[in-house]
Amino acid sequence: MAHDVATDWTLSSWRAKEALQQPTYSDEAALDEALDHVSSLPPLVTSWEVENLKEELARAAHGERFLLQGGECAESFQGCTADVITSRLKILMQMSLVLTYGLNTRIVRVGRFAGQYAKPRSSDTETRNGTTLPSYRGDIVNSVEFTAEAREPDPQRMVEAYASSSLTLNLVRALVKGGFADLRHPEYWDLDFMQHSPLAEEYHAMVDAIEDTLDFVEAVTNEKLDTVESVTFYTSHEALLLPYEEALSRTVPHKEGVYNLGTHLPWVGKRTNQPENAHVEYARGIENPIGLKVGPDMTPSTLKRLVRTLDPEDEPGKLTLITRFGNDKIADRLPGLINAVRDTGQTVLWICDPMHGNTEKTDDGTKTRRFDNILGELEQALDIHAAEDSYLGGVHFELTGENVTECIGGARGLSEADLGQAYESPVDPRLNYEQSLEMAFSIVRKYRELHR
Ligand code: PEP
Ligand code: CO
Repeated sequence: MAHDVATDWTLSSWRAKEALQQPTYSDEAALDEALDHVSSLPPLVTSWEVENLKEELARAAHGERFLLQGGECAESFQGCTADVITSRLKILMQMSLVLTYGLNTRIVRVGRFAGQYAKPRSSDTETRNGTTLPSYRGDIVNSVEFTAEAREPDPQRMVEAYASSSLTLNLVRALVKGGFADLRHPEYWDLDFMQHSPLAEEYHAMVDAIEDTLDFVEAVTNEKLDTVESVTFYTSHEALLLPYEEALSRTVPHKEGVYNLGTHLPWVGKRTNQPENAHVEYARGIENPIGLKVGPDMTPSTLKRLVRTLDPEDEPGKLTLITRFGNDKIADRLPGLINAVRDTGQTVLWICDPMHGNTEKTDDGTKTRRFDNILGELEQALDIHAAEDSYLGGVHFELTGENVTECIGGARGLSEADLGQAYESPVDPRLNYEQSLEMAFSIVRKYRELHR
C-alpha cells in the first residue's frame, strides 16, 4: 500500500514542490482560518467507501466492470439545486442502464460532482475591452462575473464548496437509498425532454426488455430481486486546489495511511500532472484510488515514471489512466502509451475522456465540441485497446441533465447556429441529456461490433 513505500511523503510534502494553477490569496490569515475551518468539519465520504471503490476499479481493470464517470465540467454554487442534481443523476442512471444492458457488465458509477469546483485555466488573467482581471478558477476560488471584486480569490469559498458538496451528496445518497435508482422504476429517471426525443423509442424498448428479464428471473427463482441496494454513486473531482484537498485528507482509526475524505476518486489534471510537481506529490501518498489525465503531450517515459510514482506497489484498483488526446491524435499516441505501461509490468485501468481533446472555437469565439469527434475518439479508443490486447474499462464525460446547446451534432443535429439557444457553461461545453444518452447507445453498438 502507498503508506509502506512513500516513506518520505507527508500530507504537506507537496508544499516543497512547485504547485501550478493555484490562486494567490491576498489575506494569509483569512486563508488559514478557512483551512482550519474545513479541517475541523466531518468527512464527506468514508474510508470504507473509498476501499470499496478501489476494489471495483480493480475489477474494471480486469474487464469485469465498466466505469461510467460523468458530470459537470465545473459545478457551481448556484447549480446546487434539486433540479440540477436530480437531472444529472437521471441521465447518469439512464446511461448506466443502457451500458449495463448493452455491455452485459456491471457498471461502476462515478459522478463528477460533490466537489468539482476548481478549474485549471490556460492563462492566469483574462482581458476584456482593455481590462485585465484574474481568471475565473472555479467557484471554490472566485466568482465568474467580470469584476475585480468577483475575481478576487476568497478563501471562504472553500467552506462554501465543502457545504455545497455536502448538500449535493446528501441528496444523492437519499435518492439512491430511497429507491430512485431502483431498476424496477426507470420512469423515475424520465426527463420531460425525453418524450419528444428521436431516441425515445430505442430507450423505452430497452427498458421494456429489462423489465421482461427481471420478471422472468423473479418467476423462475420465485424470489423478489433486490434491485436497489447494489446501486451506488461514487464521487470524484480534480484534486487541483491542494490546500483544500489537504484539509480534507485524514487518518482514520484502525487503518494505516491518509485518506482524502472529500471525495472517493480524486484525479490529477493534465495541466498539473508533472511527476516532479506538487499535485503528483500529494496524490502519491494518499490511500484513495487516483485518476491521472493523460494528454497528447505525454511521453512514454514520463508515463512510466508516473505509473511507478503513483502506484509503486502495483496495488489493485489504485491507478486509473484517463486518456484525452483528441479524435485526430489518439491513433498516434495511445498505442505507444499502452506499450509503455505494459513495460512497467503494472496493471492500470484505462478509460477514455473523449471531451477534452476535442474542444474547438467557432468563428465567433464560442467553445464547442462536435458529437462526431467525441464519438470518433471513443470508437478509436475501443478499437486500439482491442488491437493492443488491452481493455478499455470505462468512459469519462462532461454532461448535464439539462437541455443545453453547447456541443454540435447528435440525433437532433444541433448546428453551430443553434449554440446560442441555451449555452450555459461558464467553462467547457457539455453533452446535453439527449446527446449523452445517444453516446451510451453508440458505445454499446461499437462494443458489440468488437465483441461479437
Ligand atoms: C477537466 O476534466 O475538466 C479538465 C480540465 O481536463 P484536463 O485536465 O484533461 O484538461
Ligand atoms: Co472540462
